[in-house]
Amino acid sequence: MEFITVQEAIEKGKGKVHLRGWVYRERKSNAFAFIVLRDRTSIIQCVVKKEKVSPKLWEQAESVLIESAVELSGTLKEDKRAPTGFEVEVDDFKLVHKAERFPITKDQSTEDLLDKRHLWIRSRELTTVWKVKAEVLKACRDYFATKGYFEVTPPIITGSSCEGGSTLFHIDYFGEDAFLSQSAQLYLEAMIFSLEKVWALTPSFRAEPSKTNRHLTEYWHLEGEEAWMDFEGLVEFEQGLITAICQHVAKHCREELKLLGRDYRDIEKIKAPFPRITYTEAIKMLHKDGIDIPWGKDLRTIEEEALVKHYDKPLWVTGYPKEIKAFYMKDDPDDPRVVKCCDVLAPEGFGEIIGSSERETDVNILIEKLKKAGEKIEHYDWYLDLRRYGSVPHSGFGLGIERVVRWICKLDSIRDAIPFPRTIKRSTP
Ligand code: 4AD
Ligand code: MG
Repeated sequence: MEFITVQEAIEKGKGKVHLRGWVYRERKSNAFAFIVLRDRTSIIQCVVKKEKVSPKLWEQAESVLIESAVELSGTLKEDKRAPTGFEVEVDDFKLVHKAERFPITKDQSTEDLLDKRHLWIRSRELTTVWKVKAEVLKACRDYFATKGYFEVTPPIITGSSCEGGSTLFHIDYFGEDAFLSQSAQLYLEAMIFSLEKVWALTPSFRAEPSKTNRHLTEYWHLEGEEAWMDFEGLVEFEQGLITAICQHVAKHCREELKLLGRDYRDIEKIKAPFPRITYTEAIKMLHKDGIDIPWGKDLRTIEEEALVKHYDKPLWVTGYPKEIKAFYMKDDPDDPRVVKCCDVLAPEGFGEIIGSSERETDVNILIEKLKKAGEKIEHYDWYLDLRRYGSVPHSGFGLGIERVVRWICKLDSIRDAIPFPRTIKRSTP
């Protein structure tokens, strides 16, 4: 007989089944051993009755501890008291690996659980997050494919900074200075001159000095760049992407979202068009709400939270002051104080999920901006060449995958949106 998954067994509902997985829970008495079996799909209660099996088999069943690996066969029957509504009466049982006493018990501190992360990633909640994350990634890939984008592979080790020096991780590269990439953007910009529409999913690194529930020092960055695309095209592309992700997840992850305490309808209603305001309008709204922030200052978490309270969909905030944005963003010809950029803020206070802009195409303006930012021009020589040989209007964006997963899965911390979180205090396991 072939193994089937626990979910397939639940759907089958009756008859003989052959299952394998790990012991999720166990409870034993003199006559019975109850084993809740877990696999990638679900959990199911299994019962071994002493009187029905051989002494050798009983001895094995009786000795299992949580997270032991087992294979078993038995007969399914409905049982309303069992956690997923069915029970398997076991007639054959093989202990593939008898686990030691599992080091994770109830009521462990967050730090203890992070120390045991390599084991805790099997928990039902985290397993569910990984499933949703895989669907988020699938939706992104599918979206780029429908838009005719090419997936490309930019470098991680770089010599130039994309997002400013303060969050750069420095590495000693055979005695030379190099950095871990903060963003693939500059390389994607280079690649549009061959492929026009490109995207990449890469780890990005930020030496974030603070401990928050929305910052990782290593996160997965989804970035796209398109030649000939103007600012309005960019906003439309992003709206389509967020819609595609939410519609896909709401359709394919209903059970997962429920298990995580997220009503799938919260996600299903996320469809374009989305609300859109300028930074200047945002400042006015904040003043109306009694928040005292001068024009020109970047929005912090508290300001973002106050803004998104007015909406139940992601919010597109455009036209930030150029002093607080990166050198590569294009000046707005209609308002010299601001750039043609756009941040997307997730609803419910989950924070910025996308940073994006139309790019500056003029080599002299770029040089001026780099100088103003205190950057060494020679580090950007190669990038400036892109404005010397066939410069064209173009735009692009970066989306933080874990930010999106945290929002969709309604997670307290971004740490639970990535299997092995790297934060200011943690680079292991
Ligand atoms: O806004 P950021 O810094 O923009 C860029 O890096 C651009 N070069 C992207 C581009 O246009 N190609 O970062 C983009 C997104 C943010 O909106 C946020 O979602 C995520 O990356 N992000 C982080 N996610 C987790 N931990 C951090 N420390 C993050 N920093 C940024
Ligand atoms: Mg940003």
